[in-house]
Amino acid sequence: MKVVSLVGARPQFVKEAIISETVRAAKAWDHVLVHSGQHYDAVMSDVFFQELGIPTPRYNLGVGSGAHGAMTAAALDAMEKVLEKERPDALLVYGDTNTSLAGALAAAKMCIPVIHVEAGIRQAPRTMPEEINRRLIDHASRLLCCCSQLAADNLQRENIREGVIVCGDVMFDLFKRMEGRFDAERECAERGLVPGSFFVATLHRNFNVDDQEVLYSLLKGFSLLVRRTGKKVLLPLHPRTGKSIDFLHWGDVLQDITLISPLGYLELMSLVGASAGVLTDSGGLQKEAYYAGKRAVVLMPDTGWRELVELGWNLLCPSLEAEAVAGLGGALLETPPPMPCFVYGAGDAATRIVRHVCDSCSQF
Ligand code: UD1
Repeated sequence: MKVVSLVGARPQFVKEAIISETVRAAKAWDHVLVHSGQHYDAVMSDVFFQELGIPTPRYNLGVGSGAHGAMTAAALDAMEKVLEKERPDALLVYGDTNTSLAGALAAAKMCIPVIHVEAGIRQAPRTMPEEINRRLIDHASRLLCCCSQLAADNLQRENIREGVIVCGDVMFDLFKRMEGRFDAERECAERGLVPGSFFVATLHRNFNVDDQEVLYSLLKGFSLLVRRTGKKVLLPLHPRTGKSIDFLHWGDVLQDITLISPLGYLELMSLVGASAGVLTDSGGLQKEAYYAGKRAVVLMPDTGWRELVELGWNLLCPSLEAEAVAGLGGALLETPPPMPCFVYGAGDAATRIVRHVCDSCSQF
């Protein structure tokens, strides 16, 4: 049996790491890894392959950055050729990126079954690129692997009932697998940080970073948080966000924020574990904060990871006002509610997915 697995952006490298390891350990199938090249920098891509031990992709499509249509079309065209050549039993895609949409479309049109890992996530607004991608990928998929029952319920509401499994989150599996390699002491010492004296923040969503007025307001919120709590805000800068920051004129807020280059997985998880909490618009990081026992302010109008907000663990910040950001950031320092357990499975999601793929491949 042969499965092509398609990755292209940071969150997918993390998921692929645990899936490919599980496939290898079980000798489950011939796993053909394809990298679209959507993320291509050493810090956005290479570091994840090195530190997570992901095998070198058999194909790199070299898609790079660009407008959504151009990027998706380039990946679609290139993936069709790869699938034509490899003729796999299934295509595996992760999450909600343009890369995953392109792969799912190419495979569905060639009648190659699509396996979607992290299916059923739904988040307002429907216009955000990731939400458009999620819905289309789910409707093109044959096996839909959900992190929680809520995700499976979302699919049922859209009449997707067949091929849906609830297996937990592969990112939790990876977190548990890698935990022994996190080194908070070293990562803090290297940056002159005292554990507990800083927040970790990330921003990259188009609605938060492409409009400079919005981005300035969010950064102002971080600056207020620093001034009011006396804690630092550590902001690893996503390239998209870096392009939008006006370094010449925003000194009043930037002087309070500790800007650093994008971090690898082990560095980021180590620092999150030593932080006072997280402020983020990343889907992955709001879960990873919870896995590390930290709370997160989610800087989005809505979240696909609603369970953590409903359980009172994470705090949703739909407002773009600096005061709201600083206020909720400050609330992370208050006594937390009891930490919910096993919201996204028990750390065996990858094993369950691999088993289901093996079991169901003959029925595709
Ligand atoms: C993409 C995904 C998002 C995911 C995120 C993780 C889509 C629609 N969005 O968003 O779901 O959470 O990746 O980071 O697929 N750039 C570099 N170097 C790189 C990669 C990108 O400089 O290695 C720059 C590009 O020039 C581009 C910008 O970063 O302008 C954004 O990259 P892009 O892949 O378009 O989207 P992300 O915002 O990263």
